[in-house]
Amino acid sequence: MNIILLGPPGAGKGTQARHLVEARDMIQLSTGDMLREARTSGTEMGRVVADVMDRGELVTDEIVIGLIREKLVGNRAGGFIFDGFPRTLPQADALAELLAATGEKLDAVIEMQVDDAALVARITGRFTCGDCGEVYHDVTHRPAVEGVCDKCGGTNMKRRADDNEDSLRQRLMEYYKKTSPLIGYYYAKGQLRTVDGLAEIEDVQKAIAAILD
Ligand code: AP5
Repeated sequence: MNIILLGPPGAGKGTQARHLVEARDMIQLSTGDMLREARTSGTEMGRVVADVMDRGELVTDEIVIGLIREKLVGNRAGGFIFDGFPRTLPQADALAELLAATGEKLDAVIEMQVDDAALVARITGRFTCGDCGEVYHDVTHRPAVEGVCDKCGGTNMKRRADDNEDSLRQRLMEYYKKTSPLIGYYYAKGQLRTVDGLAEIEDVQKAIAAILD
């Protein structure tokens, strides 16, 4: 089963993708994570990517499509969760072509609906485990033991450089200009499903499970 999690920054895409990896043996393909890895590579491409991400703008279609293309080769386990990809219509067309080339299809596009006002609090309170990537929040989702990851026991908690209000506003602008047209695109294809992304994390998990089952 191959699915897209679609929604603005802070909608909860990464949180839900990590749950699906554990619960359904799916593979999370987060272009944000891939680009954060690329920016630490010390290459010219890494420097360009870092600059663009810190401004809250979108990296070029060419770069992100190339990253996804590499990952679609090989192990498919329980299928792919596309997290943060596609973000533009050319990316959506490229994904359809890449899947068709391997005889695969997209099973569902799940739009996580949230209120913009909730996103500032979500983004500015977010931190993640630097060892396993588990996502936490200062208020809504703290580890059981302060500073220690519930999942792996790591103590290397990190905050993202672009998790500030200015960058969030730019990221939201990019979302409404370039990514939100995908909602109509997938609706027209009959693939769009929606969940209430403002619900409790476990309730969002249940709503997504109901769609996938
Ligand atoms: P990316 O890393 O994809 O960031 P994003 O889309 O902005 O999304 P986030 O990761 O910020 O949020 P999320 O929806 O995963 O929320 P999360 O689960 O963490 O992209 C970063 C940058 O990379 C982009 O700006 C761009 O520059 C570039 N990029 C990436 N992909 C690209 C592409 N395809 N094309 C071009 N450029 C690309 O949750 C957020 C917080 O809320 C957490 O603290 C969590 O604990 C909390 N939370 C989650 N769910 C709930 C809930 N139900 N209730 C209460 N709190 C919750």
